[in-house]
Amino acid sequence: MKPWVRMRRDLAIPVPVPVWPAGYRLAPFAIADLPAIHDLTAAGYSLGGGSVPPFEKWQVALLADSDFDPALVFIVRDAGGAIAAICLCWSSAFIKDLVVHPSARRLGLGEALLRQAFLTFAARGADAVDLKVELDNPTGARQLYQRAGMVEIA
Ligand SMILES: CC(C)(COP(=O)(O)OP(=O)(O)OC[C@H]1O[C@@H](n2cnc3c(N)ncnc32)[C@H](O)[C@@H]1OP(=O)(O)O)[C@@H](O)C(=O)NCCC(=O)NCCS
Repeated sequence: MKPWVRMRRDLAIPVPVPVWPAGYRLAPFAIADLPAIHDLTAAGYSLGGGSVPPFEKWQVALLADSDFDPALVFIVRDAGGAIAAICLCWSSAFIKDLVVHPSARRLGLGEALLRQAFLTFAARGADAVDLKVELDNPTGARQLYQRAGMVEIA
């Protein structure tokens, strides 16, 4: 059996607008943010749920990927300006990484970022958004995705 499952959000079903917890805001992405995004992603996956290569290898592969689009890197900053959460998507309507800093979990940032990604892809004309999640994700990601209207497809 595969250690992960693919999940899908049908965009024909209306997507609620994101609700950002107080003190957190969606912020524009810049290439200069990549080291902080990498650090957050590596720390977020440290107990499982995913993996990320060392920074240089990761950055080169990311920027060279034909599915990379800077408009699909969603960043949430806290009141002090630090990056608290990221959602990195491929242009093929696929969520590559969703990571919330451990100190900012269970506030609704994960769900808000999912909605942001769904609405962005719906505006681009996509029919659905997919992702893969490990069956034993230690942070309850599968439950979050189910609550956000995603269903397991394979
Ligand atoms: C999975 C992950 C992204 C979820 O992020 P999050 O911001 O904590 O997600 P949310 O706050 O939207 O929802 C998580 C839980 O908080 C609860 N919650 C949401 N808002 C809440 C609030 N205001 N008060 C209390 N609890 C709340 C939700 O009910 C949900 O609980 P449930 O899973 O029992 O249903 C985060 O735990 C993470 O970064 N994990 C490590 C990386 C990872 O594995 N990513 C997924 C890869 S596929």
